[in-house]
Amino acid sequence: MKRTLIVLLAAIFIMPALSAKLLTNVYGRDYRLLNGKWDAIVDLYDQGERMKVYENRTPQGNTDFYEYSFKNGLRLNVPGDWNSQSPELKYYEGTVWYGKPFTVTKKKGRRTILHFGAASYRVNIYLNGKKILSHEGGFTPFQADVTDLLLDGENFLVAEVNNRRTKDAIPALAFDWWNYGGITRDVMLIDLPDLYIDDYFIQLDKNSPDVIHADITLSEPKAGVKVTLDIPELKKKVELTTDAKGNASTTFKAKNLKRWSPDSPKLYDVTITAGDDRVNEEIGFRNINVDGTKILVNGQPQFMRCVSFHEEIPQRMGRAFSKGDATMLLNEARDLGVNMIRLAHYPQNEYTVRMAEKMGIILWQEIPIWQGIDFTDDTTREKAQKMLTEMIQRDKNRCAVGFWGVANETKPSPERDDFLKSLLATGRDIDTTRLYVAAFDLVEFDKGRQVFTMNDPFTENLDVVAVNKYMGWYHPWPLDPSEAVWDVNADKPLIISEFGGEALAGQSGSEDVVSSWSEDYQARLYRDNLRMMQNIPNLAGVSPWILFDFRSPFRFHPTNQDGWNRKGLVSDRGERKKAWYIMHDFYRKKRNEDALSVKE
Ligand code: GCU
Repeated sequence: MKRTLIVLLAAIFIMPALSAKLLTNVYGRDYRLLNGKWDAIVDLYDQGERMKVYENRTPQGNTDFYEYSFKNGLRLNVPGDWNSQSPELKYYEGTVWYGKPFTVTKKKGRRTILHFGAASYRVNIYLNGKKILSHEGGFTPFQADVTDLLLDGENFLVAEVNNRRTKDAIPALAFDWWNYGGITRDVMLIDLPDLYIDDYFIQLDKNSPDVIHADITLSEPKAGVKVTLDIPELKKKVELTTDAKGNASTTFKAKNLKRWSPDSPKLYDVTITAGDDRVNEEIGFRNINVDGTKILVNGQPQFMRCVSFHEEIPQRMGRAFSKGDATMLLNEARDLGVNMIRLAHYPQNEYTVRMAEKMGIILWQEIPIWQGIDFTDDTTREKAQKMLTEMIQRDKNRCAVGFWGVANETKPSPERDDFLKSLLATGRDIDTTRLYVAAFDLVEFDKGRQVFTMNDPFTENLDVVAVNKYMGWYHPWPLDPSEAVWDVNADKPLIISEFGGEALAGQSGSEDVVSSWSEDYQARLYRDNLRMMQNIPNLAGVSPWILFDFRSPFRFHPTNQDGWNRKGLVSDRGERKKAWYIMHDFYRKKRNEDALSVKE
């Protein structure tokens, strides 16, 4: 009884403190990866908690026995979804217990943070038999300070991961991508001094070409600690002292600042020191603003030549998680001629974000508020706010991120408006340097006025409005595409964030017949949509849906789909379809137009 009470008290008092914040720039710290093979137990009926598998017990006496063992069973790669690692787990939705033995040598005056890049969809973490944190959301990091829980020598880490879809989840019960489960990103132990630099936000002022703001926070509310911020290439070294909250801030004018842009993705080496801690980071400085119906990058109107991709490697039919995966996806996007990527429909891994930044690709990152979210549920709203906060906390120093997306294809209602306005307030509390956007599928063709229009007053709360519209696929043309007139949020920049149609790579057929699932029809559809878009007066960008064919459980057609959504410009085998060449040519022309407009 006494032990239970102690464990319960520990869970109440230690756990929340352990998993509250997110250390900034984990890859810039002194870390050790716990990646590799983990032992696993598939627990379809959720019996593992009752059996206390997290205690990882083995029989001691003659009468002991346990109906589980982490040894000699299934082993899964971490990071990685489980679906692509075993045929039996392809469709699995349930709990998997992961177990990982590891050794540490504890050092005085040091702290250790256990950090997960993501686990899908919900997870409980146990260290040496004790639950230390829980997290919900398949695409944002979570962590715990385990300094006082680690044993010197052998430790055993358990992750109870569950990917069952629920009505109150984000995303909810049905979504057009594969429900990958597992520890899907890096797991690491981060070694830090007792007092360390916990968080910082260093960015160019939203409306100035050369004023830089820096906010730095220590791991403890300690006053009088000397902090230095050093950006050698700007000949700027600032010495600060923390206040009673452990914060230190500064604002300064940077001379000869080279701003980051798609054509010139300049990053600066930044070093922050405080006490025994020292963090290095590469940070870019750019402005992204709206001026009327234009999106400005560093004061210049820039047309967003965008494309989306899921965090998936089609050839492996699994979640992307590595530098190599990021390289493949980003190079294919760059070859199309983009200056922007919409990382659909959820925050993607940090390798992708950091590599896009080095390549000069602007990013739209979003949380998966995708269609059927329960906007009446307060706990769902709290989850959404936490996911948005975690996404912004992780990537707020990534200048490539220009847009935070808060929703995809939600239906107007007072509850939805209230829910999304609270999300925008949450985001703007943390970061006002970026543009807030949401994608809608509410554009209708008004037969009376003969115009495409949308009526969703919530859009007034956004910096940029985005529309998903599948003319020629889900919607037949009501008139010749070149005669289409759009009147959608005419006073704001409009991005066509999704358009396109399916084609089975290599399949030829009539360009007049949708159900031919042919490259010829898909190519004609792209030509028609681009002709329509030329006449949209406030068009600030387009983003074909989608770069690669991707897995989806509700794409049933046995020969044309077979569990794949075939809207990719590129097939799952890497074959570029005819529509790819149409977009490539369109983006080459758009880039040249932008280049000319800058010169004028
Ligand atoms: C929607 C949705 C996408 C989906 C696409 C489609 O617009 O945003 O996630 O994959 O349509 O139907 O292919």
